[in-house]
Amino acid sequence: MKKRYLMAPGPVSVAPEVLSRMSEPIIHHRSPQFSAILTKVREDLKYLYQTRNDILIFASSGTGGMEASVTNLLSPGDKAIVVRGGKFGERWAELCEAYGAEPVNIDVEWGQAVDPADVEKALNDHPEARAVFVQAHETSTGVKHPVEALGEIVKKRPGTLLVVDAISALGVYELKTDEWGLDVVVTGSQKSLALPPGLSLVSVSEKAWALCEESRMPKYYFNFLKERKAIARETTAYTPAVSLIIGLGVVLEQIKAVGLEGLFKHHKRLSEGTKAGIRAMGLELFSKSPCEAITVIKAPNGIDGQEVVKILREDYGITIAGGQAQAKGKIFRIAHIGHLSEWDMIIALSAVERALKSLGHPVELGKGVAAALEYFANN
Ligand SMILES: Cc1ncc(COP(=O)(O)O)c(C=O)c1O
Repeated sequence: MKKRYLMAPGPVSVAPEVLSRMSEPIIHHRSPQFSAILTKVREDLKYLYQTRNDILIFASSGTGGMEASVTNLLSPGDKAIVVRGGKFGERWAELCEAYGAEPVNIDVEWGQAVDPADVEKALNDHPEARAVFVQAHETSTGVKHPVEALGEIVKKRPGTLLVVDAISALGVYELKTDEWGLDVVVTGSQKSLALPPGLSLVSVSEKAWALCEESRMPKYYFNFLKERKAIARETTAYTPAVSLIIGLGVVLEQIKAVGLEGLFKHHKRLSEGTKAGIRAMGLELFSKSPCEAITVIKAPNGIDGQEVVKILREDYGITIAGGQAQAKGKIFRIAHIGHLSEWDMIIALSAVERALKSLGHPVELGKGVAAALEYFANN
């Protein structure tokens, strides 16, 4: 039987102690025992989010939290500025369209970060826009968008919210929800929280609550106001994903033990060591504004990135990710999120070297691995 490694940007590998807590007998969600766990999780999430805002927990993938943000903040016919620089930026626009809002798209070349001046210009051209939708980290390209600078721009506009998809960013690097003026921040369980898929988490600022009160979009399960009322009763509006919330409690305890600084440093180390290895192999990074969550590598000329992914998965038992949509075949992506260590990065790099060699690319086996080892030894 082949040993399997999961190094894709979600779902990610989950620590055994978290899995074992999640496999304990289910407790009832309307019990004092579960209410105490839920209330503690909600408080600990504020530490991770660096916020005093309420954080809502839904049983869904991350997209559910994105959809909920559209349906709870907007009304049909509302305009919203959308930063569209990858697959997930496109999703914001698709969600707006699905519910009859009008996206004003800022198209950003894949691999590049948005220029805050373009967002400011779009807001000047459309001052009635109710929201700016953006990714903190666009996972399809490995690009970090400058959300702190966007916060400065949007803060000055009382009728406009900054809504950040931080599904692959929160817990990876610094994101100061309150200080930076991030009104709504969405994340999911299967990325840096290193849990199985199934939870979306959404923080909501006071400014955003005011717009929620006015929203006329159709909604039922994903209802921010109903969930806020449930927080006061130490429960959720509907049956929560009990086991995942218990797992989240364990992960948050671990995060508090290492501290946010320790958590960010861990991702930075894995990212920088991997990137050093990739450069030493003579390969190029795809992103002009690279993120600590993943390393996105341009497939060398004449090599199909999907083939690299396939060889790793089928021959070596290692799952990394390929490119999506227009980037398919052109890139491959190694994740640094989840239950991973520097040794996993060494495994990924050595596998990439061997796969490239087997595809006929001139690569010196061990060169990338040596550079990464050197980095890890010194940092
Ligand atoms: C930045 C970003 N947004 C949205 C999503 C979609 O999340 P989900 O697949 O959990 O619905 C992902 C998942 O990869 C993501 O990385």
